[in-house]
Amino acid sequence: MKLHRERGQQTAGPMEPPSGPASRRHVPWNRLLLAVALLSFWPPPTTARLTVDTVPPLAAEGSIVVFNVLGKEGLVLGYGWFRGNRVDRAAAIDVYQVLNNSFTPGPANTGRETIKPNGSLIIQSVQKRDSGTYTVVTVKADLTNVSASGDLQVYSLLQQPSIQVSDPVDRDKENKVVITCNTNETDISIKWIFNGQYIKAAKNIFLSEDGKKLTIDPIKKENAGKYQCEIFNIGTSNRSGIFELKVKKSSLFDLTTGTVVGILVVTSVCLGLIAALVYFLFFK
Ligand SMILES: *[C@@H]1O[C@H](CO)[C@@H](O)[C@H](O)[C@H]1NC(C)=O
Ligand SMILES: *[C@@H]1O[C@H](CO)[C@@H](O)[C@H](O)[C@H]1NC(C)=O
Ligand SMILES: *[C@@H]1O[C@H](CO)[C@@H](O)[C@H](O)[C@H]1NC(C)=O
Ligand SMILES: *[C@@H]1O[C@H](CO)[C@@H](O)[C@H](O)[C@H]1NC(C)=O
Ligand SMILES: *[C@@H]1O[C@H](CO)[C@@H](O)[C@H](O)[C@H]1NC(C)=O
Repeated sequence: MKLHRERGQQTAGPMEPPSGPASRRHVPWNRLLLAVALLSFWPPPTTARLTVDTVPPLAAEGSIVVFNVLGKEGLVLGYGWFRGNRVDRAAAIDVYQVLNNSFTPGPANTGRETIKPNGSLIIQSVQKRDSGTYTVVTVKADLTNVSASGDLQVYSLLQQPSIQVSDPVDRDKENKVVITCNTNETDISIKWIFNGQYIKAAKNIFLSEDGKKLTIDPIKKENAGKYQCEIFNIGTSNRSGIFELKVKKSSLFDLTTGTVVGILVVTSVCLGLIAALVYFLFFK
């Protein structure tokens, strides 16, 4: 009887022993090693359940944030909370011992943090520098310690931007306007709004690299309307007041290329028709 090799062996690397007949039930030694390695690296299922739920994970500066400890199992004797993603004494915020209700604040405590009896960490009046990872360790009755981490991102509220417009005398002279979005906020992006809608690209509208200056050159009839800028960060936005651009009644020189082409086409079609009519009436 001819034995065939297992599928996996055909693609095995140089570690594979020299090829030889193998029975179907034979498991190659390198697979066994892999299985053992996986088993010893996987934490026991009971410890994989502890999680930290940040409420809310994206918080406005000055608000309250709660870090809930979910998936606790068994009797918990104490909770330790730390800044960063590991249990580090130098980054301890507070340690709470449940049995005698004692708290031991750590070096990373700012006076705004408290631990609740259910293990939740509460931070009052969060600040931008509170953004980051927080780690809890639960000490259980059998003195096994289980830890979990959660993230918080804090954004600042944005002051309303203001709008500044280039000199109206220059505007009329050059038929061009520069609208500037004034703000001292940092780490923001800017969008421009025209008649309540985010502005669309146009051949005569230009944005500066930082988005703060909007230039319309040349000003056309369709550019008349209400302009605003809006600034954004990761959590909020704020809109400026409105600047209304008025455009004088259109003269022939203000006509768009489209209109001019349209007029030319209509004119030539009419001329053609007249020519045809004349031909039929007089030369037929
Ligand atoms: C009770 O609290 C004190 C600190 O006030 C602490 O040193 C002690 O270890 C705690 N005892 C227990 C049994 O948790
Ligand atoms: C823990 O307690 C705090 C305040 O007492 C509460 O806000 C929070 O929702 C509780 N968390 C859980 C998971 O029950
Ligand atoms: C768990 O933490 C407690 C308190 O910090 C400590 O006494 C104990 O030795 C730790 N247990 C393990 C298994 O690390
Ligand atoms: C926008 O800014 C104004 C004044 O700076 C402020 O009163 C308002 O709350 C801000 N709006 C938002 C949505 O942050
Ligand atoms: C930006 O800051 C300057 C001074 O640093 C101040 O004069 C100006 O009013 C501020 N502008 C806004 C829009 O807050």
